Amino acid sequence: MSRIEGCGPARDARLAVVILAAGKGTRLNSRRPKVLHEVGGRPLLSHVIAAATRIVAPTDVFVVIGHQADRVRAAVRDSGVQFVEQTEQRGTGHAMQCARKAIEGYANIIVLSGDVPLIRPETIEKLWQFHQLEHAAMTILTAAPPDPTGYGRILRRSGGLPDVNAIVEQKALTASQLSIREINSGIYAFQTAPLLAHLDHLTADNAHRELYLTDLAGLLRTTGDRVVAIQAADATEVLGANTIAEMMTLDAALRAATARHLMDAGVTILRPETCVIDAGVEVAPDTVIEPFVQLLGHTKIGTDCRIRSYSVLENCTLGDDVLIRQCCVLSESTVAGGARIGPFAHLRPGSEIGADAHIGNFVETKKARLGKGAKANHLAYLGDAEVGAGSNIGAGVITCNYDGVHKHTTRIGEGVFVGSDSTLVAPVVIGDGAYIGAGSCITKDVPAGSLAVGRARQVTKEGWATARKARQQEKRNERTPPAK
Ligand code: UD1
Ligand code: CA
Repeated sequence: MSRIEGCGPARDARLAVVILAAGKGTRLNSRRPKVLHEVGGRPLLSHVIAAATRIVAPTDVFVVIGHQADRVRAAVRDSGVQFVEQTEQRGTGHAMQCARKAIEGYANIIVLSGDVPLIRPETIEKLWQFHQLEHAAMTILTAAPPDPTGYGRILRRSGGLPDVNAIVEQKALTASQLSIREINSGIYAFQTAPLLAHLDHLTADNAHRELYLTDLAGLLRTTGDRVVAIQAADATEVLGANTIAEMMTLDAALRAATARHLMDAGVTILRPETCVIDAGVEVAPDTVIEPFVQLLGHTKIGTDCRIRSYSVLENCTLGDDVLIRQCCVLSESTVAGGARIGPFAHLRPGSEIGADAHIGNFVETKKARLGKGAKANHLAYLGDAEVGAGSNIGAGVITCNYDGVHKHTTRIGEGVFVGSDSTLVAPVVIGDGAYIGAGSCITKDVPAGSLAVGRARQVTKEGWATARKARQQEKRNERTPPAK
């Protein structure tokens, strides 16, 4: 059984994965369901589903939902998994009871927890192999984190065997059991038949008045069914996220792993602990990421780029040799090779910056396409605009794209010079090679090769200022009579 090394998930009628994700997450004090809180830029549940679908096909993954079920379902629907509803949240054992119908046809199931997001498919695979090797009815994935407080503890049988007598929840621990370091990860493999045989024997005889899935370990032992445990090498992987603080610990661990992965692949990240890089981000070798940069979503960056400090890129694609200077905000945009952006530039969704183009300080673009080598170096707004190759947009130029009701497009050809402080009232077309005089308000199309000046003609009155000054001085003299 080595489907992970193989080519993607293979359908296996014998194995299903159940993900418990119906809980409210009381300890979060949040209106958002726990499994939709994010670590590494993705909901907890999405991480778990991604791991599960590396083990079995999405149609063999059953997610138990309950608290804000519709919201949870909508958030992960695209993954192709199936859903089971637990309308009343009466504990992890009760959640499993709700999945009874779904799992009946499978010989074995793996149970994952919707709030244990860092679990790796390789570790699930190890659990699954150990489960088969030991012919166990229940196999528990355990760990020994530095602080086991809050987790269920594993009561092992003595003699170095993998066998387990019971799982004891934190609140039920006796004084001597408090020192047990081995914790229950909430991740298990079960043979379906013995699981279903005992599932209805669970009782709510505990601190929370809930049905605990963990009690299955003790129950199975009463009928001589084998319960074993396998310890994960790295406890971080199985840490649960019950509070915001715990989630941020996992978030940091995940991002550190992402940064390490990128650095191993030849990317330089200065002070990586200050950068926020989502798991879905791709960066090519020899690119340098400076401190305090955020790379989010599905951002993809080419080789030999430099992303300077305090820039935030979300779902952007950058070619090779792109320079993003300090303090730029880029979202849903593409920047072609050799382009220079910023500092303090804002590329809003739909911006397409051509090769070797320059976008300078305090320039905002939205749905704007700039051709090769085009330049907008200072203080401009380019919205719903096309700027042809080699055109120069002067300081303070604005494309007036909104008439209060509709958006309109400004089309600027190639090699155009738009003088500083001009306003181009869309819809308007400026032909190739045209020249717009500074300070113009352009409301009509400008043919290729022409000069357009749309401003009041300058009037110069020679000597006017000097004469005015003299008049004012005269008035002041009249008001103050000479001293006697
Ligand atoms: C559980 C285990 C504990 C283990 C820990 C590991 C039990 C009784 N305890 O405790 O031994 O150390 O996980 O992280 O199982 N859920 C439902 N329906 C419910 C209740 C919970 O689907 O009625 C889901 C939750 O959404 C969550 C998962 O089950 O994803 C675990 O529930 P949670 O309440 O977080 O259990 P813990 O107290 O962490
Ligand atoms: Ca938990």
